[in-house]
Amino acid sequence: MTAHQEALELPGAHLEVGRMPGHWLLARVGKRVLRPGGLELTRKMLEGLAISSRDHVVELAPGLGATARLVLARGPASYVGIERDDAAVRATARVLRAGGASCRQGVASETGLDAGAATVVLGEAMLTMQTVDQKRAIAREAHRVLRPGGRYGIHELALVPDDLSERERTEIRQALSDAIHVGTRPLTVSEWRQLLESEGFAVISSTTAPMHLLEPGRLLADEGVVGTLRIIANIVRTPAARRRVRAMRSVFRRYASKICAVVLVARRRSDGDG
Ligand SMILES: C[S@@+](CC[C@H](N)C(=O)[O-])C[C@H]1O[C@@H](n2cnc3c(N)ncnc32)[C@H](O)[C@@H]1O
Repeated sequence: MTAHQEALELPGAHLEVGRMPGHWLLARVGKRVLRPGGLELTRKMLEGLAISSRDHVVELAPGLGATARLVLARGPASYVGIERDDAAVRATARVLRAGGASCRQGVASETGLDAGAATVVLGEAMLTMQTVDQKRAIAREAHRVLRPGGRYGIHELALVPDDLSERERTEIRQALSDAIHVGTRPLTVSEWRQLLESEGFAVISSTTAPMHLLEPGRLLADEGVVGTLRIIANIVRTPAARRRVRAMRSVFRRYASKICAVVLVARRRSDGDG
């Protein structure tokens, strides 16, 4: 497939630049890593999950398949992606060349997978956009799909500090949602931890990083020199995209001291555990 055909196949390709969700806008200008802590935090999550050839991995919302590629490099026994967007399903399927790997269209709260089908479940930049009830339903589904002792990794946006006032939380959520054009509902690091613990997980590690998704250093680290130059060229020649990216970056900068990326790695408790 040529780069042009691939662009036409991207999620949200039919949407207007001024209104489309921020992650698909970034995908349209060439960005492939769409999570708040970038590849660095993804790698830390994968280290914590310690995926080996014995593992059956389920990725919730793989997007364009950037993490799927890293998971496959670890040679798991199987990999299944569950992704809501059909164009993203196809994008992930394109990076899955290994036998036993597939990506299906579906929702993370109801994957259709058998109970105990997985030893590792992971999901990045997909819980933040859900309501509290949806977040819980997804964590519950991860618990159902995992065998006892299985690992669950999440990589999401967090609010800091833990005692941020209600007024500030509302202001930040509103500003992020307005800029990204997707409901954005980050929790504090403690709340993310509590969410997983209340759904039957024991959190074994927690790592944070600055929310630098659109900062030059992170772009280079995530997309490489050629990828970054392509993104910049695409932004420069599309005024509507330029305005959207500037608006997103300005909100990320305005709240830089109050938002961060967080990775939690948790272990599924056995049903009888307290
Ligand atoms: C911000 S993108 C992140 C994509 C990828 N995980 C990454 O970090 O690069 C959010 C992704 O979540 C998917 N998504 C959102 N809600 C979902 C749900 N309930 N079930 C499955 N996929 C979902 C979207 O289609 C999109 O691919």
